[in-house]
Amino acid sequence: MPKRYKEEFKTMHNVFDQFTDRNIFKLISEGHFDGLIGPINLGKESNTFVAKKGDEKVLLKIYRLQNCDFNRMYDYIKYDPRYQHLKKRRREIIFAWCQREFRNLLKARELGIAVPKPITFKFNILVMELIGDPAPKLKDMPPSNPQECYEKILLSMKKLYKSGLVHSDLSPFNILMENDIPYIIDWSQCTSKENPLAKEYLKRDIKNIYHYFNKFNLSITLEQMEKKIKGK
Ligand SMILES: Nc1ncnc2c1ncn2[C@@H]1O[C@H](COP(=O)(O)OP(=O)(O)O)[C@@H](O)[C@H]1O
Ligand SMILES: [Mg+2]
Repeated sequence: MPKRYKEEFKTMHNVFDQFTDRNIFKLISEGHFDGLIGPINLGKESNTFVAKKGDEKVLLKIYRLQNCDFNRMYDYIKYDPRYQHLKKRRREIIFAWCQREFRNLLKARELGIAVPKPITFKFNILVMELIGDPAPKLKDMPPSNPQECYEKILLSMKKLYKSGLVHSDLSPFNILMENDIPYIIDWSQCTSKENPLAKEYLKRDIKNIYHYFNKFNLSITLEQMEKKIKGK
């Protein structure tokens, strides 16, 4: 590692707690990436970073162990049948949140939905493919063909629903545009259809997508969207 790079790396690591820092180094020694390049986003529950891997780059999503609204996280996960036995303990919830995003990404990929390829996770750290360098969000990058883009997203929602899941945080903020492909990101809230709140989440996802694409004068309605997603 060049000296300058080492210095920057050290500075960046000062922001992590010891536990996270240790696990970043473990992931490096396991060969998942070589080091951090810089932050992309500081979010409510997690921060995202670009990391270097040889000549390539990967994305790190690091869930914060401190300063996160873990009550909200618990409320979101407790009804997911896959996490029914989870105790309301801060760390357990944060780790489950990270694991759930990894599992959901794997599942979505299996279903043929365009998502970043999940690479690995360790406790509160998730490593995945970096889309673009990084790619812009749909909200900032109108698609060249709105109808086509809308249909791709609708098909993804349908595939997901058919497999028994609802994204639950779908909006133009969580879709990245790369080569005109809408990549759906931010999968930690994605829950099972059995979740008693899943119907509400689906409605909200549909509304967010509808409001975005309605601006392009496509002939769509909320009812039509719901029917298509739930249809055979
Ligand atoms: N795989 C990825 N490739 C490129 N950028 C990403 C990727 N995942 C996340 N990002 C960027 O990081 C931001 C935050 O990630 P996200 O998963 O949406 O977490 P949050 O819960 O903070 O919204 C995204 O809005 C996007 O700009
Ligand atoms: Mg997001």
